[in-house]
Amino acid sequence: ASIPVICIDGPTASGKGTVAASVAERLGYHFLDSGALYRATALAATRAGIAIETAEETRIAELARELPVRFEGGRIWLGQDDVSDAIRTEEAGMKASRVSALPAVRAALIALQHGFRRLPGLVADGRDMGTVIFPGAPLKVFLTASAECRAERRYKQLISKGISANILDLRADLEARDARDQSRAVAPLTPAQDALLLDSSALTATQAAAQVLDWWQARR
Ligand code: C5P
Repeated sequence: ASIPVICIDGPTASGKGTVAASVAERLGYHFLDSGALYRATALAATRAGIAIETAEETRIAELARELPVRFEGGRIWLGQDDVSDAIRTEEAGMKASRVSALPAVRAALIALQHGFRRLPGLVADGRDMGTVIFPGAPLKVFLTASAECRAERRYKQLISKGISANILDLRADLEARDARDQSRAVAPLTPAQDALLLDSSALTATQAAAQVLDWWQARR
């Protein structure tokens, strides 16, 4: 029997990560945060002194192919370093968006992502889980929320961590990142043809996760 995969794709700060992690926990499934792989690649390139630009595509793809990334105990490791916090900054997100537009980098990360599909199942969150990485997945959800809601959520997240932020700057940043993710030539951010759309603007993460679990029960 094939190993089930639930794909949760959507724009920046739509709540995908929280919803996907909670669905994975409820089902006892593995969890893939694919954005973290692009973030870790961007960080590895920066640390190696490689500028994130098209001219460096081959070198960055080489780093991505051998990325010593591990997800362990709720933390993300790059070699011996705990990079969980370093990859979460807005700057790291912007850099991730730039490396992720390089086709050779995307290709280099495919096998790593496929490796997360293990029994009893996988919940995968990202931009192209349903369109490119797991096109045969039995449940694909495209999670959205208005730009206003997403900026507000990101703002509250930062403030709660004691990081100061400006809500209008955050909104401009996330709209810029979405525009880049939607317009790139390879694996652009777009719902799979068979994805179910879920607008979480008026929902809590718990409610959104409950909807995904309902859809999953109905499918199996
Ligand atoms: O989801 P997250 O914000 O961590 O992703 C960071 C960036 O990585 C995104 O803006 C996007 O450009 C890229 N990404 C991608 N494909 C994925 C996941 C993330 O291109 N499957």
